[in-house]
This record gives sequence, structure tokens and C-alpha cells, in this order.
Amino acid sequence: MMTSVKFILVGCGNIGVRHAALMHQFGKLEGVCDVDESKAKQLAEQYHCKAFGCLNDLLTACKNAAVLVICTPNALHAPQAIQGLHAGFHVLVEKPMALSAMDCRAMIDAASQAGKLLMVVKQNRFNPPVLAVKHAIEQALLGKIYSVHLNCLWYRDEAYYMQSKWRGTKQLDGGILFTQFSHFIDILLWFMGSDVKVVAASAANLAHQNIIEFEDTGVAQLQFANGALGSIHYSINAFQQNAEGSILLNAENGIIKIGGKYLDNIAFQTLKHGDIACTETSAEANDYGSYQGSIRNHDKVYAHFIEILLHNKASIIQNEEAMQTVALIESIHKCIQHNSF
Ligand SMILES: NC(=O)c1ccc[n+]([C@@H]2O[C@H](COP(=O)([O-])OP(=O)(O)OC[C@H]3O[C@@H](n4cnc5c(N)ncnc54)[C@H](O)[C@@H]3O)[C@@H](O)[C@H]2O)c1
Repeated sequence: MMTSVKFILVGCGNIGVRHAALMHQFGKLEGVCDVDESKAKQLAEQYHCKAFGCLNDLLTACKNAAVLVICTPNALHAPQAIQGLHAGFHVLVEKPMALSAMDCRAMIDAASQAGKLLMVVKQNRFNPPVLAVKHAIEQALLGKIYSVHLNCLWYRDEAYYMQSKWRGTKQLDGGILFTQFSHFIDILLWFMGSDVKVVAASAANLAHQNIIEFEDTGVAQLQFANGALGSIHYSINAFQQNAEGSILLNAENGIIKIGGKYLDNIAFQTLKHGDIACTETSAEANDYGSYQGSIRNHDKVYAHFIEILLHNKASIIQNEEAMQTVALIESIHKCIQHNSF
């Protein structure tokens, strides 16, 4: 889908370069910016656009662009999105939306005041098995959900954290629930509803001492308002490679597990009303050379964003829901702090 939408990009790191390729594919990239100006210049040369070292200069020089895309460290998402919205741009921001629900609220308010579109990248919502199970839940095919179990077992080593200074810091990164696993928590809440209480949580830094400022492993116990019980087991200590990103739903009318490393297949299902069909195969994971990230569905995110922007299509990614993911992560962190000894 080629359009005349003009984009600008802040943050020319690992995911930023992938976004740049998609902006070029779906519209036109007008300008890029990075505090590391060499990265901005390299990308600008590739796409024949302007390069800047700070967001303010990018916004001022590229007023004719419509959409600001934010691919900077997590803690910068809120201030940069608000700056972009105030300057009159629509904003597409990488996950997590922000590092606090308060910041998410400020972003949502800024978008509504400016009358501009704000959307968070939640590409796992487009995974075929995720969409199939979401549809089944909406059709009440599973009946009452009794319990849900989210397993996130990935691998991140010291080299990953050494690649970028912000990674591993409490202030800019915020933790593995934000950076590695917020996609999975988003899907958990999309299935189960966001009215949820953290009953218990504990965490520890078991293999990343002196590398990261937060836990590398944790477990949280949840209770949903609809009565379902839940658990999250998350770690970046999986042996040598990403091992699993899965959701198991145990319900009145059956049991089903979306499995793989990235919620990319139906691992098993036994359902009263027959199997949930899911013939479309998932995309590959994003490969950054030394490590792998989530599913490579950013093209679907762009197509969706443009449909909303140009044709007022309803979004399947709601900002309130993105905020609720952040709120749940905050609650887990609070519970961990409360229980730490
Ligand atoms: N959706 C996904 O699957 C996915 C995948 C990877 C990363 N992300 C998210 O994208 C963001 C970036 O991650 P990354 O892995 O590309 O990080 P990165 O470190 O590779 O890139 C971040 C870039 O931002 C630049 N930067 C820092 N402060 C800046 C500022 N004030 N103004 C302009 N540029 C600035 C850095 O110099 C760097 O080039 C993070 O929020 C991360 O959570 C999402």
C-alpha cells in the first residue's frame, strides 16, 4: 500500500531503521533525528531525507510531514509524543506506551486536545493465532474462563544490554516487563479484560547482577474481575535463546494454548464446539543479529495506522488498553517492592 503520507522519525536505532523502511514503503520519509547524529545521517542518506540531532529541530524543519514515529528509549515516549502532538503531528509510538499510567494519560489527553491520532505499536495483536482466539472469546466459544497462564521465557545476555546505554536502567528502560514482555501482557488483557488485581508477585535478579538495575525473573499471581485466576512467569534467563512466549486458557468449554516463542502458533486445543481454525502462518520474529525480538508484524501496524488516518477505520489498538498494560506492570512492580526483603 503506497500512499502520500509523510513521516518523520525520532530514534534511529535497531527498531527505528525497520520503521524507516516501512515509512518509505507506505509513504514518504521526510526527516529523521537521533542524538547520535551519525545514525540519523546514515539513515537520511539511505532515504534521501533530512537529518537532525534533536527532536525540536526535526519538528520545526519538517512541518509538512503528518506523522511523527517515536523509536527512542521507553522513558522518552511520553514527553516526545506530547511534544509531537502539540506541534500538530499524528504520532505512532513504539511500545511500551510509557513507563507510568500517569504519563499514558497525559499522552491520551494531549492527543485529544490536539485532535490528532495517537497509536502504540502492538504488532502481536495481528498474529493469526492471537486474532483467532480473540474472535473465539468474543463469540463466547470458550465459555467462562477459569484460569490463564502467561509464560514469557526469553534470553537476553550482557552483550544485548551493552549495545545501548538506556537498556537495563530503571529510569529509561523500566524493566523486562516493559521492554521484553509488554506485548504479551497486552494480549493477556485483551483476552481477559483489564479489571485485574495483582494478588502476589515476587522477582529476583538471578543472572544479571551488575548488568541490569531490575529483576531478570519474576512471577505474578492475578485475579480478574470476572473471577478468572491468572499467573505470569517471566524471565530473560532462558538457556541460550528465546524459549517460549505463550498463553494457556483453561475454560468452561475447553482448553487452548497459544504457544511458540512469540504467540505464533496454536500449541494445542480441545474445545467443545470444535477446533479454532488458524491456517494463516505467523510472520517470522524480528531478527537483530545477536538477539530476536517479537513477531515482524510492523507492516500490518503501518497498514492499519494508515487505514485509520486516511479512512477513519476503527482501531484494534486502543490507547486506554495500552495504558492498562502499563498500569498492570506498575502494579506488579509495586507488589514486588512490597514483598521484597
Ligand atoms: N515493537 C517491537 O517489537 C519493538 C522492538 C524493539 C524495540 N522496541 C521499542 O523501540 C524503542 C527503541 O528500541 P531499540 O531497540 O531500537 O533501541 P536502540 O537503542 O537500538 O535505539 C534507540 C535510539 O534512540 C536514540 N535516542 C536516545 N535518546 C534520544 C533523544 N532524546 N532524541 C533522539 N534520539 C534519541 C539513541 O541514540 C538510539 O539510536 C524502545 O522503546 C523499545 O521498547 C519495540
